[in-house]
Amino acid sequence: MSEKTPDDEYKTYADFIDVIRRRRSVRQFEKGRTVSPDVLIKIAEAGRWAPSGANVQPWDFIIVEESEMRNKVVEVFIQQANRLKEYAKGFPSVYKSYLANTVAIFIVLGDPRWKINFPHGVTQESEADYLRNNENIFYCSIGAAIQNMQLAITALGLTSAWLSGGGEEQTNSDLSKLLGYPSFLRAYGTIPVGYPSKDAAYRYRRPLGQVIHWNRYEPQKYRTDEQVDYYREKLRPFAMYRHEEDLNEWEDADEKLGKWKAAFTTGVTNPSEKM
Ligand SMILES: Cc1cc2nc3c(=O)[nH]c(=O)nc-3n(C[C@H](O)[C@H](O)[C@H](O)COP(=O)(O)O)c2cc1C
Repeated sequence: MSEKTPDDEYKTYADFIDVIRRRRSVRQFEKGRTVSPDVLIKIAEAGRWAPSGANVQPWDFIIVEESEMRNKVVEVFIQQANRLKEYAKGFPSVYKSYLANTVAIFIVLGDPRWKINFPHGVTQESEADYLRNNENIFYCSIGAAIQNMQLAITALGLTSAWLSGGGEEQTNSDLSKLLGYPSFLRAYGTIPVGYPSKDAAYRYRRPLGQVIHWNRYEPQKYRTDEQVDYYREKLRPFAMYRHEEDLNEWEDADEKLGKWKAAFTTGVTNPSEKM
């Protein structure tokens, strides 16, 4: 077996981070495209290799690629988006008819029964604590599978989005009736897959120096409550949909970011270090 050199390792990392950076939530697909089942199987295979708590693999993937069934799934999500507009006012949403142009839609189901395999306490108090963490383990496991699939989709030259609306009560109930799964399973992730009809190479990311804390939590990087509120009130739709990684590149950066410009673009969010 040939030995890998450090240069080979960097090459592997360069390819890997390229896929990670290019994975994008795209909500516009080219019409009329198709892919072979083999491509769809490769995506599922990436999901299958995700880590999960106690290796329970609490997921199933429904691959909807038949156009008739896909259109029915699209209808469920159009209704889901309408409810979002009515009941979650202010949340930026996109009309879901774009889903009709997908080559397939992956529905990622989570099976909560498998949580029994996660740690459980022997006292009431410890059980309450473990139960809370069981939830974290469950959702993180499903998230890992979805992320693996999104990365595989990018590596295969396609693009996708990550829709969470299937986890809502009414939407999951509609999907379970349509697709025939027991309604105690839940569609935590819906991944529309297609060929992008627009370039969405970049998206806002916090500067690396703001995210990393070396050896201990660095209080100058604490994000204040005001910043959380400011994001919700002023920045959210732009940070979600605009195509710049660095907010300094926004033409209207000064106006949009106001007094929080440094907090959103540098390594220091909290110069006073008060938490
Ligand atoms: C758990 C989770 C739930 C999400 N739910 C939705 C959703 O319901 N609809 C949607 O259009 N995007 C959804 N997204 C996508 C995010 O909006 C998107 O990842 C984020 O704006 C960053 O953009 P990027 O994925 O292009 O980097 C979700 C992402 C995650 C991780």
